[in-house]
Amino acid sequence: MSVNGAASLLALVGIDTYYGQIHILEKLNLEVREGELVSLLGGNASGKSTTLKTILGLVQPRNGTVEFRGENVTGRTTSYRIKRGMAIVPENRRLFGPMTVLENLEMGAYLNRDGRGRKEDFERVYTLFPLLKERRNQLAGTLSGGEQQMVAMGRALMSHPKLLLMDEPSMGLAPILVERSFEIIQQVHQSGVAMLIVEQNANMALSIADRGYVLSTGRLVLEGPAGQLLEHEDLRKAYLGR
Ligand SMILES: Nc1ncnc2c1ncn2[C@@H]1O[C@H](COP(=O)(O)OP(=O)(O)O)[C@@H](O)[C@H]1O
Ligand SMILES: [Mg+2]
Repeated sequence: MSVNGAASLLALVGIDTYYGQIHILEKLNLEVREGELVSLLGGNASGKSTTLKTILGLVQPRNGTVEFRGENVTGRTTSYRIKRGMAIVPENRRLFGPMTVLENLEMGAYLNRDGRGRKEDFERVYTLFPLLKERRNQLAGTLSGGEQQMVAMGRALMSHPKLLLMDEPSMGLAPILVERSFEIIQQVHQSGVAMLIVEQNANMALSIADRGYVLSTGRLVLEGPAGQLLEHEDLRKAYLGR
């Protein structure tokens, strides 16, 4: 149990990640507790995607541990971590454009091997996103950016994750869709899924988060409750332009 009483779901402890000889993440410590929405902020090339890749096991840290649901998963494969309950909405959503909404969702359900009914997974996703049910036979590539965001989240939720990782959900969306997109994220969070959201849009990401972390060239420079970070002088200067 951690200080606020909620159990730790994900913990990165003393992570150093390299690409070849280049030291990217330095002594990174980060936690997501059960039910939390945590934002990881930082400018371009600060190491945000590398953090997600380290959590998923797509890159191996040279030092440190990744703990998930009380288990040290550092040496485990990505597919093991996904079976244990991680899911990702990747950068730019990466939908299968020539496939229908339904087929895209099925790709997410493919990871569900614990015997639960697939029908139940579809119903859960369609309840969250009624529009996807209406559009289930439409090709994903013909949807608007905001609708594609729903498909990408729906696909990730088909595996019934404990922790949803999102890489820059606002990227490439028109401002009005960014707002809508964050409403959807909040809705998914309220349905009980813990989330770690990587963003450059600090204002928006902190407005819906419980806590936040700020990365600068692979090091954490700020962390704390979202409300405090929003008012923090350094963050305001660096990101919020006020
Ligand atoms: N596969 C890779 N090989 C070498 N360097 C990489 C690789 N992926 C990312 N980098 C470098 O690592 C740094 C952090 O990248 P990244 O984690 O993608 O940042 P962000 O997501 O914050 O924009 C950048 O300098 C980037 O050029
Ligand atoms: Mg990135």
